[in-house]
Amino acid sequence: MKLLVTGGAGFIGSAVVRLAVARGHSVVNLDALTYAGCLENVASVSDSPLYVFEQADIRDRAALDRVLAAHQPDAVMHLAAESHVDRSIDGPGDFISTNVTGTYELLEAARAYWTAMGRPDGFRFHHISTDEVFGSLGPTGQFHEATPYDPRSPYSASKAASDHLVQAWHHTYGLPVVLTNCSNNYGPYHFPEKLIPVIILNALAGAPLPIYGDGSNVRDWLYVEDHADALLLVLEKGALGRSYNIGGENERSNLELVRTICAILDAKQPKARGSYADQITFVTDRPGHDARYAIDPTRIREELGWRPSVTVDEGLARTVDWYLENEGWWQKLQARKDVGTRLGVTA
Ligand SMILES: NC(=O)c1ccc[n+]([C@@H]2O[C@H](COP(=O)([O-])OP(=O)(O)OC[C@H]3O[C@@H](n4cnc5c(N)ncnc54)[C@H](O)[C@@H]3O)[C@@H](O)[C@H]2O)c1
Repeated sequence: MKLLVTGGAGFIGSAVVRLAVARGHSVVNLDALTYAGCLENVASVSDSPLYVFEQADIRDRAALDRVLAAHQPDAVMHLAAESHVDRSIDGPGDFISTNVTGTYELLEAARAYWTAMGRPDGFRFHHISTDEVFGSLGPTGQFHEATPYDPRSPYSASKAASDHLVQAWHHTYGLPVVLTNCSNNYGPYHFPEKLIPVIILNALAGAPLPIYGDGSNVRDWLYVEDHADALLLVLEKGALGRSYNIGGENERSNLELVRTICAILDAKQPKARGSYADQITFVTDRPGHDARYAIDPTRIREELGWRPSVTVDEGLARTVDWYLENEGWWQKLQARKDVGTRLGVTA
């Protein structure tokens, strides 16, 4: 298959690009290279004859038309987005612009291209979204595909809006779409403003390990390479117009998660004295911080036979190893604007 992957220089998009090329698919990586984009994430495939990079913005309709006409993909996998909740609190405009308007422009470009190609049945527009569109859970229950949308941050509201647009383009225009909503990802190439890399890198630097609020917020952690595998499966086997929730079956509170990372670091790179956990510091909570996310993975397991392959303990150990071995990668990204600064404190 020839895939057009948007956001392929980001964290999850680059995992999709690397896996798709490894499986013999042709990939056109379309990315604007915002502060979150990094071409080193796809350096391992950049010389492959199966890989092409196009620097373009999903809000630029003319650029989208040009790229689609030039490369004639069989499917679009749409991952380009503004993705950091804290940044969405300080500057929601970029999130509305890229996640909502950008998705609209991409849908319209894809619809025009698909129509010009004779509306092939096999074409797919795969929209990659988040479990945050479902809002916040109490101590029990899980999100399933029919859970009503209840987004609470500017980020999740913009993603919810984009999900609705994708469903509307399917129902109204017949565009062949599939959607996925996944839980929190982690793993190699995770941008160093997100919780897990911040904890690993601050620990190594001897800096405080910031935990929002009391650390009781629960997330269902999904290893990024498992996610990429699930996305390619949904693209190829998912039912038309259907959405699939993808979870890691790995619920942890933020405090438990951070303690696990500290224990892994204590074993792999012990401090001269004490534990990395001694650096844990509780800081002001994020405004509107969702209490708990949990995914009911029944649909993807029963319809497509997919389950995650990695437990959170294994995935975190691999992730810590990767950050220990790739200092050159993260040091450069730490120098980018506002990385390492506490954002999104004031509502
Ligand atoms: N990270 C998670 O835990 C998670 C969980 C669920 C869903 N998602 C979704 O998965 C997708 C990828 O997330 P991520 O964590 O890899 O994000 P990321 O921030 O690491 O990467 C986003 C990529 O999109 C590019 N981009 C941003 N705006 C663009 C624009 N206007 N035009 C073209 N390219 C643009 C950036 O340059 C970057 O390479 C997003 O849609 C996100 O909502 C992420």
